[in-house]
Amino acid sequence: MLPIAAALFSFYAAVALLGGSAGGQAAVVEHTFVVKQVYIRHLCNDTLATVVNGQFPGPPVEATEGDTVIVHLVNESPFEITIHWHGVKQRLTCWADGAGMVTQCPIQPNSTFTYRFKVDGQEGTLWWHSHVSILRATLHGIIIIRPKSGSYPFQNHQPHVDVPIIIGEWWQRDLMKVDKNFSNGGSFSDNPAGATINGKLGDLYNCSGVVEDNFVLNVEQGKTYMLRLVNAALFSEYYFKVAGHKFTVVGADANYITPYTTDVVAIAPGETFDVLMVADAPPCRYYMAALANQPPAPDPQIPVFVSRGIVQYANDDTTGAAASGCRDGRPPPMPEMPDQHDTTTTFHFHGNLSGLPTHPLLPQLRGRVDDRLFISLGKGTICPGDRPSCRRGGGDEAEAIEVAYMNNVSFRLPERMSMLEARQYGGNAGLAVQELPARPPSVFNFTDPALIPVGPGVPLEKIEATRKATTVRRFAHNATVEVVFQSTATMQSDSNPMHLHGHDFFVLAQGHGNYDPAKHVRTYNLVDPLLKNTVQVPRLGWAVVRFVADNPGAWFMHCHFEFHIAMGMATVFEVANGATPDDTLPPPPPDLPKCIPHKKE
Ligand code: C2O
Repeated sequence: MLPIAAALFSFYAAVALLGGSAGGQAAVVEHTFVVKQVYIRHLCNDTLATVVNGQFPGPPVEATEGDTVIVHLVNESPFEITIHWHGVKQRLTCWADGAGMVTQCPIQPNSTFTYRFKVDGQEGTLWWHSHVSILRATLHGIIIIRPKSGSYPFQNHQPHVDVPIIIGEWWQRDLMKVDKNFSNGGSFSDNPAGATINGKLGDLYNCSGVVEDNFVLNVEQGKTYMLRLVNAALFSEYYFKVAGHKFTVVGADANYITPYTTDVVAIAPGETFDVLMVADAPPCRYYMAALANQPPAPDPQIPVFVSRGIVQYANDDTTGAAASGCRDGRPPPMPEMPDQHDTTTTFHFHGNLSGLPTHPLLPQLRGRVDDRLFISLGKGTICPGDRPSCRRGGGDEAEAIEVAYMNNVSFRLPERMSMLEARQYGGNAGLAVQELPARPPSVFNFTDPALIPVGPGVPLEKIEATRKATTVRRFAHNATVEVVFQSTATMQSDSNPMHLHGHDFFVLAQGHGNYDPAKHVRTYNLVDPLLKNTVQVPRLGWAVVRFVADNPGAWFMHCHFEFHIAMGMATVFEVANGATPDDTLPPPPPDLPKCIPHKKE
């Protein structure tokens, strides 16, 4: 077993490597999460934030593959809460998936619920976050699943210590109000106040001369660090770099990958990457930076967000360090970041990664496909109050509400009962549920830049026939499902990080422009595709994934940009039970929260 090195680091800087039950029997990892509002001071303001156990980011969940995780959630906040264990496969434990109104009714204020699930068949980094509205801005934390064997499959580089790097945002707005604005079509002034690394904004932010703290990673020359990157931001994909250092990416979404060497990581909301970094630079201090990227104009622009932290060598006060200019008063070197409008670097970063099909933990790709979906991701309008018609287009006269869609249906959560309960009671228990169409209602030039809605009055009429509904797509047990995601220019020219609960999917291909089977099927990677729970569908482009629907339940599938999901870019994949008890979802836990009917606003 490797030494525990947590004491070297400041709070949340690093956690012990291979602790707990490594090499032994499966253990139980138990936590109590108290959700509460606390004031956190940044940028001259005390902001009321909803957090777990007073911490932002929240406490890490550290386990060994095969362990059982038990989290007692105590809700002392004024809000309804659920916690989703993002990327945990939840085999036969869909009830613990924590997707509000999909797998459970929320935990009411002054109530509790206990989540119980196993972490097996996956190793690496995942994370947890609330899954009711946008409280996940501050209600999130890392999940680390370490190998049972006690060693990693990358021989020469057993890491010295784990370093969570959670990229997030600091918001100073009333998040409930922001959430409401999103569901009503969004407002371009609803921006975060800054980007964060492990909750710290970093020294590019100051208010009246008070500089914000940097996240500091203390390193020792020659040692290898396992950076566990999580993008917990609501808004943006980020580029991450450390000056003077290279990375080897060894894991993605808690699956091992073919090691990939790079000096930049692109990480979309919902994604995680495990990255080895060797402290092999001259002893010194170096900036690390996380920069939010965004599509160029004519897309509406948000401010540039950069959080930076510091990698600090333990021995940088030696003569050698002084000679290299480290303690001579010059600032640490800053990594040269991609341009904030560079969307090519992320395309290549994601496209260059490949899976590790030889690893015994990882499943094999299946050749036969039973179900095929083509899902267009875009924006349309609906009329207020579900009226069939209203004034559309732009200008002051417009009545229509902008919504995001999959195949022109904008998802609406049910209100009386969760979808999983409805599934359990059969016949949807009276919930008005519709089947998600397998294809868009019409085919147009999805990625025509002329369709980018740059202001009021953009002619969306042709393509905006959108309705609001609670959709599901039902799959037979063990069906192999292939999904083509097509980004469209109607949702500005945004990329779309699409996330599926309860399953990992193989990413077979990605491309720019419109997907065309005649051209693109032959570009599929059927040899060593990446296994992910979140696929970054390129802006004005497409991606193809394939998965086996072998985990019975109701699984949320949505874009991980918070404003896209709030506007309805979501659906639910319902997977049937198999023939045996081993393939059948057990009944709900007895303490599953009851639904409280809401007043319609
Ligand atoms: Cu991070 Cu529905 O997920």
